[in-house]
This record gives sequence, C-alpha cells and structure tokens, in this order.
Amino acid sequence: MAKKITKICCIGAGYVGGPTMAVIAQKCPGIQVTVVDLNQARIAAWNDPDTENIPVYEPGLSAVVAEARGRNLFFSTNVDEAIAEAEMIFISVNTPTKTYGTGKGMAADLKYIELCARQIARVSKTDKIIVEKSTLPVRTAEAVKSILQNTGNNVQFQILSNPEFLAEGTAVEDLHAPDRILIGGDPTEEGQEALQALVDVYANWVPREKILTTNLWSSELSKLTANAFLAQRVSSINALSELCEHTGADVFEVARSIGTDSRIGPKFLNASVGFGGSCFQKDILNLVYIARSYGLQQVADYWEQVIIMNDHQKRRFGTKIVRTLYNTVSGKKIAFLGWAFKKDTNDTRESAAIYVADDLLNEQANIAVYDPKVTADQIQGDLNYLHSRSEAENSALVTAVTDPYECCKGAHAIAIMTEWDEFKTYDWERIYANMTKPAFLFDGRNVVDRKKLSDIGFKVYSIGK
Ligand code: UDX
Ligand code: ADP
Repeated sequence: MAKKITKICCIGAGYVGGPTMAVIAQKCPGIQVTVVDLNQARIAAWNDPDTENIPVYEPGLSAVVAEARGRNLFFSTNVDEAIAEAEMIFISVNTPTKTYGTGKGMAADLKYIELCARQIARVSKTDKIIVEKSTLPVRTAEAVKSILQNTGNNVQFQILSNPEFLAEGTAVEDLHAPDRILIGGDPTEEGQEALQALVDVYANWVPREKILTTNLWSSELSKLTANAFLAQRVSSINALSELCEHTGADVFEVARSIGTDSRIGPKFLNASVGFGGSCFQKDILNLVYIARSYGLQQVADYWEQVIIMNDHQKRRFGTKIVRTLYNTVSGKKIAFLGWAFKKDTNDTRESAAIYVADDLLNEQANIAVYDPKVTADQIQGDLNYLHSRSEAENSALVTAVTDPYECCKGAHAIAIMTEWDEFKTYDWERIYANMTKPAFLFDGRNVVDRKKLSDIGFKVYSIGK
C-alpha cells in the first residue's frame, strides 16, 4: 500500500518549481506544499500580496497562486525546516551547462543538485521520497542515491525521476492537462511503493492512463530525447527556410503541406530566428556529451548538428540585417520588438535576441528594445553575461524602452524577435511614419502581415520567404 503524502517540499522556486507546485497545491488541497529557495528576493516576490508581481510570468499563474497560497501553498527561504517536515521532496534547482572544467560548454553542472542532496541527507530524520524534477543527465539518480545513502542518519530514501514537460508560456495549461506524466522508479518493492505515492498525487487531476511509469534511466533519458526531437523539428524547418529564400518557395507553405501528413503532424514547424529557452540547447549538449563519453561519435555528431543549425540560423538573421542596411549598421538605430525566447513568458534564457543583438553590437549598432514583460536590468544582464564588451558599453549602446512606438521612432530597421500577439495589433502606419527611410522590417517570427506592411512602405524580410 503506497504511503499517502500530506507534505511536499520543493527545492527551487524557478520557472519549473513555482508553477508545478502551485498547480499541485491547487489540485490537492489535502497536501501542504512548501516551495523553498536560497534566493530571498525570489521568495519575497512569490509572497508579494499582489499576485500579479510573482517572479514568473505565465498566463493564468497568478490566479492559481492567489487560490492556493496561504491555504496549502507556501513559499519560504527556510530550506532545512521544509525538508525536515516533508515526506516527499522535489528537487527543482537549475542545472546549467558547465562553464568550467571537464565537459565545459557541454555537460550539465550538477553542483546545485549535489548541494541539495547533501542538505537533504544532513537534515532528514524521517524517511523521504526524493523526486528529480530538474532535467538531468542519465544516471544522476544514482549519484543522488549514493550521496543520500552514505551520509544519512539511518533514514531511508527512495529516488524517483519525474521530468517536467511543461512549456513556458503555456505552463498552467500544460500542468492542468498534460499529454502525459512520466515517473521513473526502482523496480524494488520500496521503489514501486514510492512511485505509487507520486502516481496518487497526480491522479488527483490527471487520468491514470496518462501517468506512465518506467525505470529511472528510461525516465531520465526520455526527457532529453523529447527535447532533442522537438528542437530537431525546429532546426529541420529552419534549415529548409534558408533553401526557400534561395528558391522562391515559401517555408510556411511547405510547413503547412508537410504538416497535413498525419505521420508528421502540424505542430512545431514554425521557421524562426532560432530556438531559445533553458532546455533545448542544454539538453542536446548534454545528450551529445553523454554519447561522446560512451565513445558514440556518430550519435553525438548527429544530435550536435541540431545546435549547429540553430546557431547558424541566429547568425544569418543578424548578417541579413547588416547586408540589407547597405553593409553597415554602425551608429544606426535598430529597434528590437521582443526579447523573451518566446511569447507569454518573461524568461530570456538562450533567447535568439541576445545573440542577434550581440552580433549587431559588434557592428556598432544602437539597439532599442521593447518587450512587454522583460525588464531593462534583465536585458543588460543577458548581454553582460556574454562578456563580449564592457558593461558600460552595453548600457551605452542598448536601451530598453517601455513604449513600442517610442522604441521604433527614428529607427532604420525593426527586428521582431518574439511572437508577442500585441505586435499584430500595432498601428504600423504610425510606426512607419516615424522611422528613418527606407524603413526595414526583419520579421524573425512570421508575426506581421507581410503584404500589408509592404503596402505601407516597409521593406519586409521574413524568414523563409
Ligand atoms: C521546451 C519543451 O517544449 C518542454 O516540453 C520542456 O519541458 C522544456 O523545453 P520551452 O523551452 O518552454 O519548452 O518552449 P518551447 O515551446 O518548446 O519552445 C522552445 C523554443 O523553440 C522557443 O524559442 C520557440 O520560439 C522555438 N520554436 C518552437 C520555434 O522556433 N518554432 C516552433 O515551431 C516551435
Ligand atoms: P528552472 O527553469 O529549472 O526552474 P530556475 O533557474 O528558474 O530554473 O530556478 C531554479 C531555482 O533553484 C533558482 O531560483 C535557484 O535560486 C534555486 N536553487 C538552486 N540551488 C538551490 C539550493 N541548494 N537550495 C535552494 N534553492 C536552490
């Protein structure tokens, strides 16, 4: 008989931990859910009396938090206390790509995971089920298990892998009605009991036939594989977009044509300036690193090509802007509409906008950025993180503007970097009237009506047309 869970702790109050725990608390009023994080400012923002100010922007999330917070959902910096009390602990900390040592630029940095495991081992006095929520390289569970079992005080730990498949911007929808929930566990009796306890949590709102159970390693590898397949689709259509531009085919027509084949399907075929986000690149690099570490060179090279294509797509967008603007953007104002890696999120990790901006800044452009949800500090931080130039230079060359019309005023060109819906509703005649002529528009997301804008006078470039 699986143990009935009444207290959950989640370590990490980020883009995954925050929304996931908010929905678990909303759907399971009988379970007390405490989300903890070392970052005090982040926890303070989750506790802001006005739920519109929570640190993660996701449509529908502030309403979920408003419903559950204070009832059975709590945000705290007291990590030890929450660990000690919980029967089930989700580890939802970040696992960025390593920036040092062996596997630099490829492997996942597991230092935050290890710190969590050691903290859990130190604090725990009662048996716990540990759930890996962060995306991890295959066989991480083994390392976590080893730390817990060798430093603990006679406490029993069961490790489960429960990868997250939510996409940012649709997190609440995805959590409410997931395609599937995946849970991996040990085949032992205790392992299966722990697995069942987590199945029972999700079964509060997810139909049981959508809850898949596997062994630990299959579950861990499935997450990397899902992201690799999705990213591969984007790189595949992006590769074709360049060919379309040279042949007169239209990549959106091609995508529509192939998407009607039920074996291919219509989703994830939008050509773009390149995929971003915290998962795709990191997970593929991880997959490539793992394959190489087993000596599987061809497997590694195959998947690495998805990243190489994506880097090319970002770079050729910047190059297109420079070439079109008569081979120089030095001192010219380029307006960026959008900075987030996709619409409906304030997350900018690996956003194509960062890399395109960097290339244009190397050509001494002046960039004005408007994004409805991204702060000026975040934009500067993203550029400073690249270390391409001094912080002073970045802040002199890049300005965040809170009004889109102001952002485009006097610009030589507009670059649409994110597919925010509001861009479709703008008064484009007014924008055109206030720009330097000829006024160029580079649509990296197929957002605007190309014909309508061309009729206004814009010189429009859209990916794949
Ligand atoms: C992804 C996975 O979808 C999700 O299951 C996993 O849990 C985390 O990684 P996310 O990164 O939040 O989610 O967003 P996603 O919608 O997958 O988009 C990733 C990137 O690909 C974005 O930059 C998006 O703009 C781009 N993309 C997506 C395209 O360029 N074209 C498409 O057709 C689809
Ligand atoms: P994700 O997209 O995976 O949710 P984020 O970076 O948004 O990634 O969130 C991860 C969170 O985990 C951060 O807020 C970070 O402060 C937190 N974190 C990392 N290590 C620890 C730790 N040992 N204890 C508590 N919180 C941690």
